[in-house]
Amino acid sequence: MTIADIQAAYAEYADLAARFDWLNRLFTGRHRRQQFGDLEGRVLEVACGTGTNLRYLPDSVEYVGIDISEAMLARAWETLDRVDVEGRLERMDAQTLSFADDSFDTVVSSFSTCTFPDPVAALDEMARVCRPGGRVRLLEHGPSDVDLIARYQESRADAHYERSGCRLTQEPLEVLERSALVLEERETAQFGRLTMITARPPRDSEEVDR
Ligand SMILES: C[S@@+](CC[C@H](N)C(=O)[O-])C[C@H]1O[C@@H](n2cnc3c(N)ncnc32)[C@H](O)[C@@H]1O
Repeated sequence: MTIADIQAAYAEYADLAARFDWLNRLFTGRHRRQQFGDLEGRVLEVACGTGTNLRYLPDSVEYVGIDISEAMLARAWETLDRVDVEGRLERMDAQTLSFADDSFDTVVSSFSTCTFPDPVAALDEMARVCRPGGRVRLLEHGPSDVDLIARYQESRADAHYERSGCRLTQEPLEVLERSALVLEERETAQFGRLTMITARPPRDSEEVDR
């Protein structure tokens, strides 16, 4: 899907996503809190959607959220008004961030690299804008390690992509390996369906292995 297709898909989906945010949080809230509940300093959220993660961030962070969809950002502004986190939101393509190098202490993203047309470019951008010593924290979905669930995901993958541009069976670690980011920690949950990743930008001395 192109960026325009994705914007059209999320323009339609934004209302539903906001209405059922409670259900989303019921299934993923624990993992969002684990990944994003202890952040400090300047935080960039890439593809913030309706702002679901705002409820799990410490109030003390300086938050910037970006997303390509105006409709999702409109919902995220409503969420930002309801929580104690101070921040701002901008419409921006994750694959070409307009921030300077090393601008943020932590860069976070959840359930979105599966939707970026070029997920490696987006991860490279996260590495670029994250300061040396900072961290990139991701929460991703992917194929389950339970065969029956994995086969169900596979059977739904094409229709799901047509509807939302989301690659249901994308392997998050395989994408990360092709990017400039260096994997530090990973953990899976929900039968391998969810992956929590901590990564860091490469050090000057490290070659990026493509
Ligand atoms: C499945 S939603 C996830 C939203 C949110 N992060 C969450 O955890 O619920 C995927 C989001 O990625 C955004 N997105 C897709 N492609 C994008 C791009 N190239 N740049 C920025 N945002 C993008 C969509 O607009 C949508 O808000």
